[in-house]
Amino acid sequence: MSEGPASPAQALAPTPPMGWSSWNSFGRRIDERLIRDTADALVESGLAAAGYRYVNLDDGWQAPSRDAFGDLRPDEGRFPGGLKALGDHLHSKGLKFGIYTSVGRKTCEGFPASYGFEEQDASLFAEWGVDYVKDDFCGGPPFWCRYNFWPWWDYRSRYTAMSRGLRSTGRPIVLSLCNWGFGRVWEWGGEIAQLWRTTFDIWPSWRRIMGILDAQRGLERFCGPGRWNDPDMLEVGVAPLTLEESRAHFSLWAILAAPLIAGNDLRSMSPETLAILANPEVLAVDQDPAGLQGTLVSDPRSPLQAWSRRLHGPGERAVVLLNRSKAARSVEVSWPQLGLRGPARVRDLWRREDLGAFDGRLSLEAPGHGARMLRLSGAQEC
Ligand code: GLA
Repeated sequence: MSEGPASPAQALAPTPPMGWSSWNSFGRRIDERLIRDTADALVESGLAAAGYRYVNLDDGWQAPSRDAFGDLRPDEGRFPGGLKALGDHLHSKGLKFGIYTSVGRKTCEGFPASYGFEEQDASLFAEWGVDYVKDDFCGGPPFWCRYNFWPWWDYRSRYTAMSRGLRSTGRPIVLSLCNWGFGRVWEWGGEIAQLWRTTFDIWPSWRRIMGILDAQRGLERFCGPGRWNDPDMLEVGVAPLTLEESRAHFSLWAILAAPLIAGNDLRSMSPETLAILANPEVLAVDQDPAGLQGTLVSDPRSPLQAWSRRLHGPGERAVVLLNRSKAARSVEVSWPQLGLRGPARVRDLWRREDLGAFDGRLSLEAPGHGARMLRLSGAQEC
């Protein structure tokens, strides 16, 4: 790990951003009450203290048209207090304020978006006290969306314009690119943004989550402090995912060094869902300062997989033993797969207990559509 001074971009997101977004549970049905109640729930549940700081309004906050000055404005019926006041409120609770726009002329839900208005929108966001902007990819093409303008030929320059616009406000604002992995965004995203989506959308399905997981392989080297591959927001605690599926999803996102943007309804989450999102030992893996993305170290064709992530400090590894099949099975990993030799202390991060010393290999039973998550210490690098 380099210990040099953080660049300004790194300083914005030295570890993967954590927070909540309205999209996965609420879609465009969002309003001021929901956002304020969610902010309360973030603080009261302890999630804010655990690191979940960004409260992100996704698509649907906008009025149907810009105002007479060409400014975006929130829907008055649903955000009567305006967004400056909402941002102030979030800040007064120690939280950060995230907002959404799109690179084309319309958002995916058909609201006005930022094409040609990047500078103006960036400075408006800064006036409102925005700390995080998600810039989507709609605009939109007839085959994806209902709108017939597709900034296909110049989307990189439009994203760059938004990035410059945000930078020139002087306010530190995280930029999250949401162009679904197009144009190998991981190769250039780090020049203008702190995170970028690597795939099309997530939904609360085991199959979908496994598909997104598989698409992260090969992207490891593009990840690091200040620049994060984003496999999309969390579906932890969102039906019909089971508790085991949610736990596995969260374990894997932590192994991937993914941004952790909760997508469930925080006002009504179960204690079990909260325990997943707030597990400090799993969060410590996600937020590990070395910022290295974990990788699959076993046969990709097998439903029984071992994923490994190097953590800061020699011999430190996080390991997820993943069982993609329906019935409980034993999943094995060997030290050569982890690049280790000699005895390691093994801790179970979900049971929160030390399992003792192991040497050479390890095999544990994982529930169907589920995972075990471990931390190994004390072995030697090889
Ligand atoms: C796209 C994005 C989603 C969400 C919706 C909003 O599909 O990928 O994450 O922001 O648009 O319309």
